Amino acid sequence: MGIGLKVPVKDAEEVKKKLLSTGAFYKGRKVKYHKNFVIFPLKKKVYLGDEYQIVEEDFQKIGRKSFREYLQEFLDSEELKKVHRSFDIIGDLAIIEVPDELRIHEKRIAESLAKAHKNIKGVFKKAGAVKGDLRTRELKHLWGQKSTVTLHREHGCLFRVDIAGVYFSPRLAYERQRILQQVRDGEVIVDFFAGVGPFSILLAKNRDVKVYAIDSNPRAYELLKENILLNKVADKVTALLGDCRQVAPEEADRAIMNLPLHSHKYLDLAFDVVKDGVIHFYTVSPEEDLFTSKERLVMEVAEEKNRKATILNRKVVRPYAPRRYHIVLDVSVED
Ligand SMILES: C[S@@+](CC[C@H](N)C(=O)[O-])C[C@H]1O[C@@H](n2cnc3c(N)ncnc32)[C@H](O)[C@@H]1O
Repeated sequence: MGIGLKVPVKDAEEVKKKLLSTGAFYKGRKVKYHKNFVIFPLKKKVYLGDEYQIVEEDFQKIGRKSFREYLQEFLDSEELKKVHRSFDIIGDLAIIEVPDELRIHEKRIAESLAKAHKNIKGVFKKAGAVKGDLRTRELKHLWGQKSTVTLHREHGCLFRVDIAGVYFSPRLAYERQRILQQVRDGEVIVDFFAGVGPFSILLAKNRDVKVYAIDSNPRAYELLKENILLNKVADKVTALLGDCRQVAPEEADRAIMNLPLHSHKYLDLAFDVVKDGVIHFYTVSPEEDLFTSKERLVMEVAEEKNRKATILNRKVVRPYAPRRYHIVLDVSVED
């Protein structure tokens, strides 16, 4: 990642001259274009007026071909349109989607991605949906390193991840930061569906908190324990293996419920554990009813439990499937 200056197209020429004359322009990187803006790669931060924003961008090295340019060498324009441009990079491994019509090209597509992103050591294809209680998916190896274990860095934390054995999504990085902004020192937090610990460890690393991180997948638990040591938060995070109904602590100030398709089945447990605090309820909703039914459900459980619940925030986290969204409700709970 580098930094860039986002400039309206109309000012681009003049700004470029200024950047070149001050030595701030990064000559070894390609300029990017976004709608009516040009993004100039920078070597150092520069202020040329409030109207020009400094942004974080992944600039391509000059002389290096892009993923698309490599694909153009063997795909025609119709095929090119079908390649899913969005892929996940976890540590030094990439996970891509290849539509069935392009299956004969899958190895070359994988190789193209690796050539365009030199930090990628292995490429895998999604060979099924995320499924089962453990939320894992089948992968097919296409290129490079065969081991599915990697080391991923996010917000200054390190996570050992086995992309075939556990759930991990780098697309939730922003959401994890959003939760961190709400957490205060002194809190007791329960992460009901912790995986390898991306929420739990981020919170423990940045706040003086006590976290109970639960997962029922033995492989996730093993990596969670490793990640707790790797990030030096063993005094703050307790890893618990098992069904959260069996192993959850009796009381906490905050609960994180990131098991989108099934978390509603555990809302009663969250209300039992969080007597006075906040529940982050992640779920999946259809486009036509993003929040109403889910908010109603929260209120029904609150009433059953004789508690007062208030929706603090309602937010779409990301698209989940066609016309379905991963959403979150931040729910304040009072006695
Ligand atoms: C969608 S993943 C989320 C992992 C992690 N929070 C993250 O953001 O990467 C859900 C996790 O919940 C775990 N899980 C499913 N049912 C569970 C249960 N009843 N009790 C504890 N963990 C459970 C799965 O093994 C999986 O690792």
